[in-house]
Amino acid sequence: MAIKLDLDDIQGLIARGYSGLPHARFTIFTAQDPAAARALLSWLLPRVTPAGRFTGDSALHVAYTAAGLRRLGLPASALDGFTPQFRSGMTGPDRSRFLGDTGESDPRSWDWGGLREPPVDGLILWYATTAEVLDARQAELAARLDAAGIRQVTVLDTLELGNNEPFGFHDGISQPVIGGLPKAKGAAAAGTPGGRVVPAGEFVLGYPNAYGQLTDRPLLPAADDPRRLLPPDPAGSGAADLGRNGCYLVMRQLEQDVDGFWRYAGQATRRRDGSDDADARTRLAAKMVGRWPSGAPLVKTPDQDDPGLGNDNDFGYYHTDPLGLACPLGAHIRRVNPRDSLDPQPGTGASLAVNDGHRLLRRGRSYGPGNRAPTAAGPAEAGNNGHTERLARDDVAPGSGTGLHFICLVASLSRQFEFVQHTWMNNPTFHGLYDDTDPLTGSRHPRGATFTVPARPVRRRYHDLPRFVRTRGGAYFFLPGISALRYLDQLPADARSASFSSSVTR
Ligand code: HEM
Repeated sequence: MAIKLDLDDIQGLIARGYSGLPHARFTIFTAQDPAAARALLSWLLPRVTPAGRFTGDSALHVAYTAAGLRRLGLPASALDGFTPQFRSGMTGPDRSRFLGDTGESDPRSWDWGGLREPPVDGLILWYATTAEVLDARQAELAARLDAAGIRQVTVLDTLELGNNEPFGFHDGISQPVIGGLPKAKGAAAAGTPGGRVVPAGEFVLGYPNAYGQLTDRPLLPAADDPRRLLPPDPAGSGAADLGRNGCYLVMRQLEQDVDGFWRYAGQATRRRDGSDDADARTRLAAKMVGRWPSGAPLVKTPDQDDPGLGNDNDFGYYHTDPLGLACPLGAHIRRVNPRDSLDPQPGTGASLAVNDGHRLLRRGRSYGPGNRAPTAAGPAEAGNNGHTERLARDDVAPGSGTGLHFICLVASLSRQFEFVQHTWMNNPTFHGLYDDTDPLTGSRHPRGATFTVPARPVRRRYHDLPRFVRTRGGAYFFLPGISALRYLDQLPADARSASFSSSVTR
């Protein structure tokens, strides 16, 4: 049955990645004073961009942590309806080990959101057509925050949106097609791995998910919403649905060691006489990603890059490459979206249906020093362009701050983001492997990590992979629907008192 999404109530970031707004800046804030937090929300509310209407030169979105919702006056009984991962936060007990945030990625050393940093209340995302428009919007916001006495924990700049992420690979190719959005109408039949339509409830709360159910979300007794600002629970319980039209937003600042990545690939593929083999270097890097720098998928073109396939997303793994001879079983894209490889019936629609429950809607943007002159040496020779060409210079010190502000939107933090990160990306025994983690982005266990490239007659194993990506900050946010923002904006002054009825959770 076709789902009708309430696009005027859903924040636009769910519907679009704003490729037409290539400039973006993300402000992380904390507001000690509840009145100031409320005043900020009142100012933001009319500026938030809904999914249904977008015409201007900029877009604004706002998301809150559990602490931020509490600050706005949402009582504990209502917060209890949010998922435990959201309530305890990304650095909560045991989460760091679970997410691989250990060693260099330990939250005690983060730049923001970590254990030694001020608490984070919220995130404001501005997107704009030009740098000038963005600066103007940001200046307006900064003045507002200042006037209200709200602290900017950090302001995260991003690189102008291009095709490539900092390692030099075409990014942003594969995204789930969300049922109910206009794109889904023209999408390929449900059996096609790449263009498969995923039920809206996997990304927007309050709609049926991949299991035909409504994902858990905060529901309030109707008495707690006397002005009927919130949509009613679509299941007909009579509760007010604080979650509907919202979703969870995962944000992680992932610093990329671009030099280290290409240095490793270069050293691991040197010829016997010690000379550099640029083709082999690029091939190994592509094996780690699962796509060539142009974006062409290895399952379709295993031996060489083919820019003509740079946007190709129409493939599965089980029938074409079950052993990983083209795209290694442990390659980044094969781990984070195994498509039709999942048991118990790999290669079938049933396998794709299992996979539907673990999709991520990615909305990240790269950051780092842009506009550096190209250099004759370095990974640019490996056939890349874009960021890698500009960044992989000897004068860019490792740790100088290049990477990805990873953002993904999900309905379930545990079944989607955390599962992909823990059970697929960082799992040494993923897909029958036994000592590998995601070669591109994974954490490394104390004995180091290997990367296995299946081949005939014998597989090749690359040893002692350094960690190429480390976490510098992060938090779990809730991106409310616009009605829910309106509700939060008008919470009664005494909402923090016990007068609030206990909330309904399911
Ligand atoms: C700095 C860190 C990262 C880099 C450089 C990176 C790079 C890439 C690249 C080059 C692609 C292929 C382009 C595409 O299919 O759109 C890709 C795809 C993808 N990545 Fe990452 N990634 C990073 C972190 C992550 C993390 C932390 C996750 C999830 C926890 C993730 C999930 C995905 C997903 C779901 C896809 C699409 C795969 C598919 O559908 O085939 N990535 N990434």
